[in-house]
Amino acid sequence: MFTLRIIILITLIVPLNYELCSCQCARAEYKIDKQCCPMCAPGNRVLWHCTDDTSTTCVPCPPLTFIDEPNGFMECFPCTVCDANQGLRVNKVCTQSSDTVCKPLERFYCIDKKKSSCTSAVQHSECNPGQYIKQAGTGSTDTICADCTGDTYSNGSFSSCLPHTKCEALGLAETNPGTHSSDSECGNSPTAVAIIAPSVIVTLALALFGVVFIFKHIWKKKQSKSSVVGCRRIAESFETEGQVKTICE
Ligand SMILES: *[C@@H]1O[C@H](CO)[C@@H](O)[C@H](O)[C@H]1NC(C)=O
Repeated sequence: MFTLRIIILITLIVPLNYELCSCQCARAEYKIDKQCCPMCAPGNRVLWHCTDDTSTTCVPCPPLTFIDEPNGFMECFPCTVCDANQGLRVNKVCTQSSDTVCKPLERFYCIDKKKSSCTSAVQHSECNPGQYIKQAGTGSTDTICADCTGDTYSNGSFSSCLPHTKCEALGLAETNPGTHSSDSECGNSPTAVAIIAPSVIVTLALALFGVVFIFKHIWKKKQSKSSVVGCRRIAESFETEGQVKTICE
């Protein structure tokens, strides 16, 4: 009984549907001049519409044009150009049956899409000094930056904040404390200066003392020599030794 009812329903509805659709065309047909013509396949366009005794005449789309669906069009669509000024480059080249697919340039991300093709892209943000790249940008997402905290720094291009150099651990003095955007700077340690400076001073002092001592010695020798000569001269001019001695002393 149930199946019979369905059969009756179908036999009633199908002709009705057919009646409704006969004013239109079948799914793979298009309407032209009150006539239904078979559509052309994707990648082709209509050259001649069908007649009572001929089917539709289709021709392939010329280069750089396409139609991506069964159609009754007389013209193909121009292929999309991926514009570098829009931050775009080609992902898939255009074919007769599919439009160009664009994707963002390197270091760009898509901000507008149409189907699977990007229509507009902008450059990834750069992180500021004091921030690190928490998540690198992709073709569809911008860079995510985060601030450095504690004793760390990043110039904005690091993938993590680096700890400040510990000058003391290197036996050096900190000449510039680090910031979140710059490392600390190390110079010579005061302890190193304290060890090196006195030894240098002592060495120099000893050297100077030695030089002075040597010159003094030489000078004294010269003086005593000349005084001996003087004595001799005096001795020559006097007759007795007793007189010479008193003069020299
Ligand atoms: C950050 O430092 C790196 C390596 O030290 C350098 O190559 C880069 O140019 C610097 N970036 C900026 C924005 O200063």
